Amino acid sequence: MVKTKIAVLISGNGTNLQALIDAQKSGLLRHGSIEMVISSNSIAHGLKRAENAGIKTAVVTKKMAGSQKAFEEGIRAELEKNGIELIVLAGFMQILSKEFTDAYPRRIINVHPSLIPAFCGKGCYGLKVHEKALAYGVKVTGATVHYVNEIPDGGKIILQKPVRVKKGDNPAVLQKRVMEEAEWQILPKAAEIVSKRIMKEKAAEMESYDKERIDKLVEDNSYLGRGIVLGRTADGAKAVSAYFIMGRSDNSRNRVFVKEGDELFTRPYDESKVEDPSLIIYAAIRKSGNRLIVTNGDQTDTIYEALEAGGTFEEALKTRTFEPDFPNMTPRISGMILLGEKDFEYKMSILKSATREGTKTARYTFDYESEPGLGHFIHTYECDGDPLPTFSGEPERVDIPDDIDCFTDKLWTGLNADNKISLYVRYTDAITGEYEDRLINKMEK
Ligand code: GAR
Repeated sequence: MVKTKIAVLISGNGTNLQALIDAQKSGLLRHGSIEMVISSNSIAHGLKRAENAGIKTAVVTKKMAGSQKAFEEGIRAELEKNGIELIVLAGFMQILSKEFTDAYPRRIINVHPSLIPAFCGKGCYGLKVHEKALAYGVKVTGATVHYVNEIPDGGKIILQKPVRVKKGDNPAVLQKRVMEEAEWQILPKAAEIVSKRIMKEKAAEMESYDKERIDKLVEDNSYLGRGIVLGRTADGAKAVSAYFIMGRSDNSRNRVFVKEGDELFTRPYDESKVEDPSLIIYAAIRKSGNRLIVTNGDQTDTIYEALEAGGTFEEALKTRTFEPDFPNMTPRISGMILLGEKDFEYKMSILKSATREGTKTARYTFDYESEPGLGHFIHTYECDGDPLPTFSGEPERVDIPDDIDCFTDKLWTGLNADNKISLYVRYTDAITGEYEDRLINKMEK
């Protein structure tokens, strides 16, 4: 099971970040993995700590962004790009809007250097917290880790630890003791607790989509040929496209998927072993404007060119036929997602021989209005055989989870181990066109 992906947001020294890095090394933090550090300050020392630990960094400052909205959008773009599931604010000196916190319910935690509800809220951060605590004369202070909502330091408390105030303490001395005795202890612990919860939720999600699970649809079938899945995530936000190839001959198995820009190609793995590149080397994914094309052959280019010239998916495929590999007469399968709106649509097509001899083509197009949590799956063959029996009927319904790793893992592990070659999955924001993807090549594993 994939660990919870964590982003740590910092603004300064990053000692709390260091505590998280150390906890990951020691195994205290084991259900989460720190994928990246985002700093709101370009010269934060915490960035060095991340680099020293080999963790990816990004800098998003309010000044650079120009407004709170652009600042938060910049952060969200980084989080999305890296598939982040848990955001840990560790000495992050910016307040996040309701719009931001609502987008990550129970997925943002913060460490604050006092026993909340004392000495917290807007304007009460860093050293100021300890100045106030000393001015008030408290005998005990401490630190709190809590969930983050729209109220500064107002979310539900996860962990707290008290620290005694000593005679002669000044704010800096007290701050250091609170950090050492409380913050660096409870922040990694809380990160572990929440990472574990998120992993459990993901596992439950995996179990619950049982009925039309992609792994159920592909397992116990040794040969499906090439397959396309198109659909929409359960949260409704993303357009899902997946393409896999399976192969039986050495010529076909000698392949990998290669991404070039936003396009996906099949390429020979070992150039010296190529016997016949026709039919097996092609662009599998291309994009024309806000139309995403996925196919199992060079009809990707035919569709692309037609769309660029103002034509349609159907018109393009009208000029094509099934593959000339008699006696199999492998069908050409194609898909297209019409991005650009929340309730997007998608199409699927299959071109197959209408006759036993392969003298005529039958063209079927399936036109879908997208539905959250639902996708459709088409593949070239029903199963293994000689000749290979062509896919028949309409594309199968498939459950689509929100989690790209969940879907990718299920599909890849479900496919027959000997015959699978490569898998590519892309989750695209239907409105912005931004996407997250996963690529697996058996040859490179
Ligand atoms: C820490 O004491 C942290 O709790 C506090 O700033 C300091 C930063 O330390 N955060 C807040 O006050 C947030 N409201 P660090 O950069 O060394 O982790």
